[in-house]
Amino acid sequence: MRAYDAVVVGGGAIGMASARALAGEGLSVAVIDRGRLGGEASSAAAGMLGAQLEAHAPDAFYALCRESRAMYSNFAAALLEETGIDVEWVENGILQLARSEGVAAALRERMRWQRAAGDEAVWLDPAEVRALEPATADDVLGALYLPRDGNVHAPRLSAALRACVAGLCDVYEGEEVVAVERAGAGWRVRGARDVYAADRVVLAAGAWASPFLRALGIPLEVRPVKGQMLALRPPRGAALRRTVYDAGTYLVPKRDGTVVVGATEEPDAGYDKRNTVDGLAALAAKALGAVPGLRGGEWVRAWSGLRPRLTGEAADPVIGPWPGAEGIILAVGHFRNGVLLAPITGRIVASAALGREPEDLWLPFWPPARFAARGGDVRANTPER
Ligand code: GLY
Repeated sequence: MRAYDAVVVGGGAIGMASARALAGEGLSVAVIDRGRLGGEASSAAAGMLGAQLEAHAPDAFYALCRESRAMYSNFAAALLEETGIDVEWVENGILQLARSEGVAAALRERMRWQRAAGDEAVWLDPAEVRALEPATADDVLGALYLPRDGNVHAPRLSAALRACVAGLCDVYEGEEVVAVERAGAGWRVRGARDVYAADRVVLAAGAWASPFLRALGIPLEVRPVKGQMLALRPPRGAALRRTVYDAGTYLVPKRDGTVVVGATEEPDAGYDKRNTVDGLAALAAKALGAVPGLRGGEWVRAWSGLRPRLTGEAADPVIGPWPGAEGIILAVGHFRNGVLLAPITGRIVASAALGREPEDLWLPFWPPARFAARGGDVRANTPER
């Protein structure tokens, strides 16, 4: 049996950022993944750092997303130094298009509360939109421009984190964890091939977290929400520089000139990651409706990923120690924002592992505070039914 200060179950961006942060605190760490590190949602993502895009109110989730976005410049620079891999972090901005009066009003309201929170958010009239991104649709009534939201190249981020973790930790790929059990004051993680002892276990298994939660009596459930994506190469003269978002569809320009288009949201697809003709046709139609200048572009490829979404009313991620199971640390339910929230999640997990006090900003996600606020009632996050 191998023994560690911490075992991380799940090697996506969240698990790897956690492992990196734990190793950075001097802990001996193992990362165990059923497949290859970064092989699932983390490398399937479009890599948007959409702290303002993905927030729907000036709430704790928005604050957490902003905090993590602010860490990205240093995070990307550190990964480059540690691994030689450039994750292509760029603060290229996001344009949220308004193509109806109703959407324009909602975006102006979003601009108001984001500015009040101290963020940059600018209203552009149609001519300004066209001047910034000439390939966008003629029926655009204006756009909310979020210059601080950016993106990274998600497969490169996964590769960099994997290289970094491989240098700092023991990595077990292709190892299926079959049980996480109490063993004295610590924990025993049983894999199909080997057994690992640890003082702390970080559960970061993305869309595959539910069996571990259930077995530990933790009343949270994570379900997969499939997202289909495609990449295209714009026709000559129609390159995008900023990310364009329209009615749930986003077009994210990458350094090599391709544009990543996402994504469907399919909560009933389970673990089926196949691309479907209707899913991709609808996605392509929405993308070309928002940015008609991309017509005639070259189809590059299509793929899909499984976002890990907590069930219940409060679907925000849960990050921190689980009360009543000392040594179990959760990093689950990052849903649409695993890439964005990876740096802050690593920091929170490391604090939890070292028994440090959480920062105020983290309390809404930190299990002892989050569930104590409901008198220990976790029903808001328990499965419906
Ligand atoms: N982060 C965008 C998405 O999950 O589709």
